[in-house]
Amino acid sequence: MIRSLLYIWALILFISALGSCSKASEDMLMTVQQCDTSGMKYNADILPIITTNCYSCHANGIVNGNVSLDGYANLKTQADNGNLVGVITHASGYPPMPDNGGKLSDCEINKIKAWIVAGAKQD
Ligand code: HEC
Repeated sequence: MIRSLLYIWALILFISALGSCSKASEDMLMTVQQCDTSGMKYNADILPIITTNCYSCHANGIVNGNVSLDGYANLKTQADNGNLVGVITHASGYPPMPDNGGKLSDCEINKIKAWIVAGAKQD
């Protein structure tokens, strides 16, 4: 009887330890992956990423690869034809962008993807 009580006690301890452990790793994941991709807006969320990383080669009269990313309409074209996701994710068959050996952060890529999935709207 005491023996089985001990087993149950050990089991409870084990389960609660598991619980607190997974809770701790959840918290860690939350801090590592703080990337809010909800309600992405062209002006507030997407444009700053493109301006910083792409405009030097694809805007203001500079049209590398015959691609301009100036303003909403041009970016929308590249979003709709699939080139935008292809180049930023370094998918095979697309020239990897930015074309200076870098890559956008996972968070930036996920934001752009989320914006496209939601219709690549201008708002
Ligand atoms: C350092 C200059 C440079 C930067 C920065 C740059 N690009 Fe490019 N981009 C190029 C060049 C050069 C080409 C043509 C490459 C080719 O056709 O092989 C190109 C081509 C493209 C194309 C056409 C792809 C195709 O399939 O024809 C797209 C779309 C594009 N870039 C998007 C972007 C985006 C989005 C960014 C920012 C994340 C970016 N580029 C940053 C130089 C750059």
